[in-house]
Amino acid sequence: MVTAGLLGVPLEDHRQLKAWSATFAEMLGNFQHNPDRINDVLRCVADMTGYFRDAIREQERCPRDGLIRSLMDAEVDGSRLSEDEVIANTIVTMVGGQETTTNLIGNGLLTLIRTPEKMRQLREQPEIIASAVEELLRFETPSQHTARICKEDTVMGGKLIRKGEAVMAVMAAGNRDPERFSDPDSLDLTRADNRHLAFGWAAHFCFGAALARMEARIAFTALARLDDIRVASDDLEWRTNSGLRGLKALPITFKAAA
Ligand code: HEM
Repeated sequence: MVTAGLLGVPLEDHRQLKAWSATFAEMLGNFQHNPDRINDVLRCVADMTGYFRDAIREQERCPRDGLIRSLMDAEVDGSRLSEDEVIANTIVTMVGGQETTTNLIGNGLLTLIRTPEKMRQLREQPEIIASAVEELLRFETPSQHTARICKEDTVMGGKLIRKGEAVMAVMAAGNRDPERFSDPDSLDLTRADNRHLAFGWAAHFCFGAALARMEARIAFTALARLDDIRVASDDLEWRTNSGLRGLKALPITFKAAA
């Protein structure tokens, strides 16, 4: 719903947007597990493209606030984005904002339930929420890796990477690097100097980081207030996606307030 509002499409389409995002996300690191899903993913891309093309045409007739409109209007040195570029950026923003934030909340909640003393700490000291979210981003990195194609022969960390070769940067591993973080495998909700890589780095640093942080702060503050929160399943299942780490579902129980 937040994403629909941000883009400027009808809020009542939020279930459809979520379903498309989930299918699209499978493309990011999953084909080795589910090659038979390729056609579904391609159909989903075609459907999303059609939906956003219609949204753009609709906006040409009656404009509404949101990212789609901003992308349509954006102009740098007289140059505008083509319709396909607006659609592509809209899809990236929509998908980028969904599975990642969902997984941050799901994985973070599971981590807190498994370390009850940390859950208690967050409940008793709600003022640590900002650093708690940063630590959960570091500790259970929702977006595990990204990739780049090398533009020219480059030596990095003593290794030659040739022009045209693909490089995968595993942010999740960097976030547990003992040379960077002291005691990296322990969860410290008040960790100082927590410059993690969960939102990427430099030119492509996450466009939605501020929003994701805000959503996570609201969610964890509310969840930490629940009484006797427990996982209601003995066999939690992780998604078979090497890029987006998250559970298929996280059933929980808690005590209703008296
Ligand atoms: C916990 C939540 C999130 C995580 C972990 C996350 C993670 C990331 C990462 C790692 C990148 C960099 C990818 C790269 O360099 O290859 C990125 C980029 C991006 N993210 Fe997020 N993201 C989150 C939430 C969001 C939200 C809420 C939005 C949209 C409102 C969003 C939109 C984007 C976009 C559009 C980019 C591409 C930026 C560019 O290429 O310049 N993300 N995100």
